[in-house]
Amino acid sequence: MTEQEQKLVSIIQKMTLEEKIAQLVQLAAPFFEGATNEGQITGPMAAMKVNEDVVRNSGSVLGASGAREVINIQRAHLKKNRLGIPLLFMADVIHGYKTIFPVPLAIGCSWDLELAEKSAEIAAKEASVSGVHVTFAPMVDLVRDPRWGRVVESTGEDPYLNSQFARAFVRGFQGTDLQNDHDRVAACVKHFAAYGAPEGGRDYNTVNMSERQLRESYLPAYKAAIDEGCEMVMTAFTTVDGIPATGNKWLMRDLLRGEWGFDGVLISDWGAVKEMIPHGVAADEREAAYKAIQAGVDIEMMSPCYIHHLKQLVEDGSVDETLIDEAVFRILRLKQKLGLFENPYRGADEKREQEVVLCEEHRRVARELATKSCVLLKNEGVLPLKRDKKIALIGPFAQNGDILGPWSCLGSKDEAIQLYDGLKMKVDPSYLFVAKGCDIETGTGEQWNEALHAAREADVIVLALGEHSDMSGEAGCRADIRLPEIQLELIAKLKQLNKPMVAVLFNGRPLDLHGVVDQVDAVLEAWYPGTEGGAAIADLLFGDANPSGKLTMSFPYSVGQIPVYYNCFNTGRPKDAPDAQERYLSQYLDIPNEPLFPFGFGLSYTTFSYSDAALSSDYMTPEQPIYVSVNVTNTGKVAGEEVVQLYVRDVTGDVVRPVKELKGFQKILLQPGETKKVTFTLTEEQLRYYHSDLQFTSDAGTFVAYVGPNSRDVIALTFKLVK
Ligand code: GLC
Repeated sequence: MTEQEQKLVSIIQKMTLEEKIAQLVQLAAPFFEGATNEGQITGPMAAMKVNEDVVRNSGSVLGASGAREVINIQRAHLKKNRLGIPLLFMADVIHGYKTIFPVPLAIGCSWDLELAEKSAEIAAKEASVSGVHVTFAPMVDLVRDPRWGRVVESTGEDPYLNSQFARAFVRGFQGTDLQNDHDRVAACVKHFAAYGAPEGGRDYNTVNMSERQLRESYLPAYKAAIDEGCEMVMTAFTTVDGIPATGNKWLMRDLLRGEWGFDGVLISDWGAVKEMIPHGVAADEREAAYKAIQAGVDIEMMSPCYIHHLKQLVEDGSVDETLIDEAVFRILRLKQKLGLFENPYRGADEKREQEVVLCEEHRRVARELATKSCVLLKNEGVLPLKRDKKIALIGPFAQNGDILGPWSCLGSKDEAIQLYDGLKMKVDPSYLFVAKGCDIETGTGEQWNEALHAAREADVIVLALGEHSDMSGEAGCRADIRLPEIQLELIAKLKQLNKPMVAVLFNGRPLDLHGVVDQVDAVLEAWYPGTEGGAAIADLLFGDANPSGKLTMSFPYSVGQIPVYYNCFNTGRPKDAPDAQERYLSQYLDIPNEPLFPFGFGLSYTTFSYSDAALSSDYMTPEQPIYVSVNVTNTGKVAGEEVVQLYVRDVTGDVVRPVKELKGFQKILLQPGETKKVTFTLTEEQLRYYHSDLQFTSDAGTFVAYVGPNSRDVIALTFKLVK
């Protein structure tokens, strides 16, 4: 045990059992703002039946709005806390603190790991100077069902890509020296595990899958975050093999701590300990507390099971006090790692907060990332826009600051650059006619008349359409994933004018784009692009930036296809088999099998050709990797970035294997006419998978490597693994 750790042990030895248990409690900031009058418990404390002692001894705070509040709460707390143990301040800094970056599903579409890391570094700096110590990010849940509202917080449907982004976000948030670098915060990877697979895409619903699928597809990104040094893990609301994650001993003690060696802090999600009662695995708060501490949950977020029952459980011998000591030790060690015992206020600094938060450099990075996160889905000769053409900007997002998306922390819609603001930076206002046309879900005759008037004045119509930001995010699930009816009607009516139309979409999930993509000449998927969204989209619409985003989650042809994802299995009756029959195939009678837009898809204002794809050898061995190369040429007239993707298929496995798996990507910039040779290294390790006996190994045999601009339009190269 190090000297530092010895110090913690000596603190724990001085703590009473009540003080130790209180360290395991996380309460929201209002609990600490003098919530009690003399002798009287009011507000949230009364609701949760916790008293002043609990608050004075609690270990951490959820949420806080700024350096002044954090300093005040910490100062008051240290006066009351007998041993002077500082509070940990935690917050949901998911894609920015005050400068808001595109939502993670958009950042994923940038395929730009460096910029993703930079966005997390900036978010950490703004958060830390405002008093935050820990962020509840990255969220790395793999997602395949756009009905689920929280797909917006994920980087998509691929385990490898999610793992790369998980690492980048952890690096950005934490840096390499949390103790001394007070511009960084500790990260908390969530939601452990497989929260992204609820049945029916309905939040908090049952998750049901084999351990093998869990390990193969859903666990890699959490593991990547932990291997990158992530300090904290948050448990999921949902079940893993019939046991809520928050009380799942196999998941947390055996797998997370035992097999993976994670020794950081485990926090429950909001109220998830107590939710074991409605889940039906705990009869009461006492049993919920018992199961959570046995499973290894260190901090109970916003429910009172630990504080109401752990003391009794220890005193009656049901829970060994060493479990409490372990949890307290991990929490105090995180405080020590953050330097809080030396400086309980850490980075909190009101003066610096004014200089750093929402500064021009941060806005610049947010704008750059937003331009790289948008995906051009269709463009039939209408983009980029010309500055001498009159533009009608029509739709509920024409002048709307609701473009930050869910979990936008302290970001303000009033500080967002709206699309109208962005277009005004590009063209003379006399060339710009703006009208709402309708609201998100309702519309009036007057709104339509205004839109018609604007459209009649213009040469080209830019539609700004989408979902309220609360139509995705937590509990924001939709069974119908089309644009709201009123917006589809607006498109259809404007279509009658026979003018070029561009649809810019602001949404938190892949949508069923029928009624949109078939009606307009161009579609730019902007997601929720963040504080600089309108400026970034204007850059793209006028060609001052060239779209380079690629989808990281499939857009289904219809909600009836869900789940539809690129790394699926072939089945015994594949529709595209050479000897396919007419009827008895894995297909629908009424729609295609393929998604409307596949994983990895995105257009540019230029075009790229792929040629001379080659393997360095037609076989590899565990010692001898092979190299996959391809020439990529910019065959258009403007410079552009291309995400060159490498997929692999294991043709025959011990278990069925996906028809493709992403194994590498490179985002390259090509000038008009320029050709670059892109080379990937492929190793035997990258061919390993979980066998039926859960052994993670590779098999000798035949494989196919695919290179191309997305998961559909690829060049195939066959090779063997020889062992
Ligand atoms: C919420 C979310 C979780 C978030 C936490 C704290 O319920 O599930 O992602 O970090 O509570 O706000």
